[in-house]
Amino acid sequence: MNIKRLSACLLLLPLLSCAEPQEAKEGDVESRVNALLKQMTLQEKIGQMNQLSPFGGIEEMAGLIKEGKVGSLLNLTDPELVNKAQEIAVKESRLGIPLLMSRDVIHGYKTIFPIPLGQAATFNPQIAEDGARVAAIEASADGIRWTFAPMIDVSRDARWGRMAESCGEDPYLSAVMGTAMVMGFQGNSLNDPTSMAACAKHFVGYGAVESGKDYNSTFIPERVLRNVYFPPFEAAARAGCATFMTSFNDNDGVPSTANKFILKDVLRKEWNYDGMVVTDWASAAEMIAHGFCKDEKEAAEKAINAGVDMDMVSSVFIHNMEALVKEKKVSEATIDDAVRNILRLKFRLGLFENPYVDADQSVKYAEDHLAKAKEAAIQSAILLKNDKQTLPLTDKIRTIVVTGPLADAPHDQLGTWVFDGEKEHTQTPLKALQEMYGDKIRIVYEPGLAYSRDKQREGITKAVAAVRNADIVLAFVGEEAILSGEAHSLADLNLQGAQADLISALSQTGKPVVTIVMAGRPLTIGKQVEESTAVLYSFHPGTMGGPALVDLLFGTAVPSGKTPVTFPKMTGQSPIYYAHHHTGRAPSGQEILIDEIPLEAGQTSLGCTSFYIDAGFGPLFPFGYGLSYTTFQYNRINISADKLKTTDTLIASVDITNTGKYAGTEVVQLYIQDKVGSVTRPVKELKGFKRVDLQPGEKQTVTFSLPVSELAFWNIDMQKVVEPGDFTIWLGTNSQEGLSADFEVIN
Ligand code: BGC
Repeated sequence: MNIKRLSACLLLLPLLSCAEPQEAKEGDVESRVNALLKQMTLQEKIGQMNQLSPFGGIEEMAGLIKEGKVGSLLNLTDPELVNKAQEIAVKESRLGIPLLMSRDVIHGYKTIFPIPLGQAATFNPQIAEDGARVAAIEASADGIRWTFAPMIDVSRDARWGRMAESCGEDPYLSAVMGTAMVMGFQGNSLNDPTSMAACAKHFVGYGAVESGKDYNSTFIPERVLRNVYFPPFEAAARAGCATFMTSFNDNDGVPSTANKFILKDVLRKEWNYDGMVVTDWASAAEMIAHGFCKDEKEAAEKAINAGVDMDMVSSVFIHNMEALVKEKKVSEATIDDAVRNILRLKFRLGLFENPYVDADQSVKYAEDHLAKAKEAAIQSAILLKNDKQTLPLTDKIRTIVVTGPLADAPHDQLGTWVFDGEKEHTQTPLKALQEMYGDKIRIVYEPGLAYSRDKQREGITKAVAAVRNADIVLAFVGEEAILSGEAHSLADLNLQGAQADLISALSQTGKPVVTIVMAGRPLTIGKQVEESTAVLYSFHPGTMGGPALVDLLFGTAVPSGKTPVTFPKMTGQSPIYYAHHHTGRAPSGQEILIDEIPLEAGQTSLGCTSFYIDAGFGPLFPFGYGLSYTTFQYNRINISADKLKTTDTLIASVDITNTGKYAGTEVVQLYIQDKVGSVTRPVKELKGFKRVDLQPGEKQTVTFSLPVSELAFWNIDMQKVVEPGDFTIWLGTNSQEGLSADFEVIN
């Protein structure tokens, strides 16, 4: 032990153990935090609030770490470097405070799970929790103890590339899935060395960026923030999510990184949050570009005073905070609060006891991890169409043509936000088919197009020729990974390149066409759905997408995924979501569309309702939609009472029968409608769901308990209350079909 470290230990004893690792005890964390804080100079405190990204090497940062000017590092994944950096912090800095190692581990580290939007399609929180647990086990084995996930921005506009990272359009679904991810990342206890601190991001409203263009502005009024955008974050905070990240957008003119209302009034005061708040990448400095701060100093001042604890990479804190404190623009108490939040996390993670990583390569791509990733990919696939029961494929099939740019695209099927998963481990549908069925079925591979944006048509001709001698064609289309994710917004959601031509040409052969779509968002595939006999939508399914899809195609597994977002018919319908408000002019269903409008029709002769004359008003597929190889019948909705007090719980049940030939799983969904409010209310809101497994012919009564308090919303007085009045409840197979009952809430 060197002298500095020894003296630090003496100073801090008995608060720090410098000898054998021991468990951090939650009970004494606060006293350890305070005792350590007392030892720190202002400079050291500010150092803790500084996060840097060395991207590979640490040489240029070693000096800063030694001086105690860095609290956290981003993007170090080599365990040797992690240990080296930690050693400098622990042994060479005055107080020996360990660094917090962080990384974007979004839907897997090495073993890649389906993109979060795909995971949301499972409507199965266990899948999300398992995915996050596997990610944490693999990433922590390289020393990463903090991930920037889950992303729980309610996302209602498929043009926004980051919808892929989200849990979709619904606050309730996002809250359930996001919370499950938090549990998975953080495990049983943060100080378990396989746990990673989670980060609820991006707080808040980022999913509503104008026109779906990334980094854009939002204009979300407080009531909508509270009713729609806050709930997943509140759930994450209450579930103990260790950190929060501010978002890039300015809402109604105030960048989130300087938004006191969301960071202090709501997060800290209303939700009693004691975790740590980090900015998004350089979002503090970007407030200058926003025209919200004149220079870095003002950016630092506004961010810290609004409630930010750590500055991600922009260095505005480390460069300006001391001066700001001297000038009394920032109080030392504010600095202390921020540093407390940072140190608390470090203690909770057990970093003072175990700063180093004992690199364990064996956990990466472990068999159990691959099995879980495969199950996640199976459950995330959505069957959108299955004419003539084309799927599952039977053993009568002799020749299959496999085509499309995503049939054998090991990189692209992993999806966006994959920094560490290696494509060499990806199992593609083509490879899986060849391995699993190559000895029984003739499998002909004609890619048709080399990649999703490919416009060359020669390959299409070859694919069509091959199909003429086949029983069926499996066409894997969609998006390359790079077409979704951060800074990858689109103004056109149609299939890229010549993919639409490929499907049309295949369909003209008259052979059954099974289209499988791998994408980061819902694409406008109406035409392809018409031209295909069956359509399976798998989003980007991850490392094990191939075997998962082959199991689904051959009926070893049965599809059970449901759309976590509304699928638009045309891009211009975006943003589109099921929980829209009532207008004064709801569509009647009798609207005349563009092809039928008589010449020189009178201005008001079309029916003045809320619809598009070209796209109508409905989506291509509603939220919550997804078929199975079997069929489910809903009968006999039953509710426990038709008048309930606000303190009561409504018990609602419905009988579901598997009326088909396959064992299958149905996601039963519970929606409510609050008919009249002090402000207008959504036409429907998801309030519960259950996955139910049913054998052929089996019937089950599925029961939900819905506390009436769950009907509360932020009303005209900006109070969260249940307003007495009439409600409808639906139990159904998607947001548009279900059995309903009415009830009344009384005072
Ligand atoms: C993204 C965040 C991410 C951060 C760190 C930013 O550009 O918006 O979601 O966590 O970078 O990589």
